[in-house]
Amino acid sequence: SGGTFVPAVVVGTGYGAAVSALRLGEAGVTTLMLEMGQLWNQPGPDGNVFCGMLGPDKRSSWFKTRTEAPLGSFLWLDLANRDIQPYAGVLDRVNFDQMSVYVGRGVGGGSLVNGGMAVTPRRSYFEEVLPQVDADEMYTKYFPRANSTLRVNTIDKNWFEQTEWYNFARVSRQQASNAGLGTTFVPNVYDWDYMRREADGAVPRSALATEVIYGNNHGKVSLDKSYLAAALGTGKVTIETLHQVKTIRQQNDGTYLLTVEQRDTDGKLLATKEISCRHLFLGAGSLGSTELLLRARETGALPNLSSEVGAGWGPNGNIMTARANHIWNPTGSKQSSIPALGIDDWDNPTNPVFAEIAPLPAGIETWVSLYLAITKNPERGTFVYDAAKDRADLHWTRDQNAPAVAAAKSLFDRINKANATIYRYDLFGKQIKAFADDFCYHPLGGCVLGKATDDYGRVAGYKNLYVTDGSLIPGSIGVNPFVTITALAERNVERVIKEDVTAS
Ligand code: FDA
Repeated sequence: SGGTFVPAVVVGTGYGAAVSALRLGEAGVTTLMLEMGQLWNQPGPDGNVFCGMLGPDKRSSWFKTRTEAPLGSFLWLDLANRDIQPYAGVLDRVNFDQMSVYVGRGVGGGSLVNGGMAVTPRRSYFEEVLPQVDADEMYTKYFPRANSTLRVNTIDKNWFEQTEWYNFARVSRQQASNAGLGTTFVPNVYDWDYMRREADGAVPRSALATEVIYGNNHGKVSLDKSYLAAALGTGKVTIETLHQVKTIRQQNDGTYLLTVEQRDTDGKLLATKEISCRHLFLGAGSLGSTELLLRARETGALPNLSSEVGAGWGPNGNIMTARANHIWNPTGSKQSSIPALGIDDWDNPTNPVFAEIAPLPAGIETWVSLYLAITKNPERGTFVYDAAKDRADLHWTRDQNAPAVAAAKSLFDRINKANATIYRYDLFGKQIKAFADDFCYHPLGGCVLGKATDDYGRVAGYKNLYVTDGSLIPGSIGVNPFVTITALAERNVERVIKEDVTAS
């Protein structure tokens, strides 16, 4: 058999990957993690590891010539984006024909760029989405384990009520309440005590200095500081960065052989390596893991993979929208970049919505209330292998997001009516548009649990091959997804280590 042999390989370093590596390391299994992005721990010329949101440089983006911020415009002017050098930056926007997907690149995956909102889904919806998973076990064991290992914490309510940094959230809460809608505090992995000290001027600012989608220089407990630090601490886990897995095949002895490309931060190919392993865990995210398996199936490398690989993808019903407030309702020139409240209308029988009250930390008064709505959209997309481009193409059409837009519209029409306000039409690109229905932050599915895999993420048709990440969740979970991805990975890997790894 070929290549350097390691007992276990984990592809990626996001949530599913980090959980798998920690538990493998604790079980004494020598494990190699392969991550296509960088380890973000070296300060740049400005003394910071990450660049800011308002004046982004090449560190912001994964091989782009211009930044592609979700809110690119203000009064239809492209104010937020900058021309940059192509570089192994931290945020990627993968553009398919009718849907763009934001993902994190680097050690920690999405945890480096996300809003840190750590939400446990309501149990009834979890049971609806993943009926084959024992919910009792999840809610008594794996959700608590995920929350504590991720170091999820809650905001001090008294501070929230008086700080200028959350004026925008209090304004949105009042307006929701005027429409008879309730809000709920949302836990986070950002250290809220650190944020209070930021407000006091005692420590360097991060959330209070508009940092989030291009990385937080302080305050956020991303995976490199939680699960991955613990994984490395077992002494059994190593991480290779700027290593992208390209192909997977199986050798006669049952081991897996990976082709891996190592590049420098400017994209120059440094080496092509072959690495083999007995147990292979895919944690490259919904797009990454699905693409690797699709390529393997369609090129004949792993011909027994199920026809379900590629199916069941959804954007978690994500729709972004914004409202214009009256002049007497300023949202504040000072806004924390970390959300603290959500409008919870998930029990609405016709149009369930959970809407994060999002900051728009522009540094100036905008009178804008911004939201990321999570809706229940039954539409699903499918990944199809494009042989000419050697990549997975997402088959999803814009009109498939119509149910999600309709649900978001029904909620925000109520809020506008109750407050005599209107939508903002200038924030989502050059056209007149109140609902951003062409991008998402929450890609889910592609290798759905119980379909492309068994009920524990074991890939159907192959032994010792596992999917551990957001691709297991069938397109929707009703809240921000990383706590669910983490808890499900905890459940699955516990079973796999016991039955497949330490027993063998
Ligand atoms: P994840 O995407 O985290 O990790 C995959 C990793 O694999 C990446 O590091 C990638 O570089 C690597 N990789 C991919 N292909 C590879 C290959 N072939 N070889 C080697 N490495 C490869 N969620 C939430 O719960 N609360 C929130 O507040 C937010 N906010 C938010 C904001 C923004 C801007 C984004 C983009 C996303 C969010 N999310 C979120 C979503 C959340 O970040 C996302 O659901 C998880 O990161 C998904 O975790 P996974 O383990 O599936 O993969």
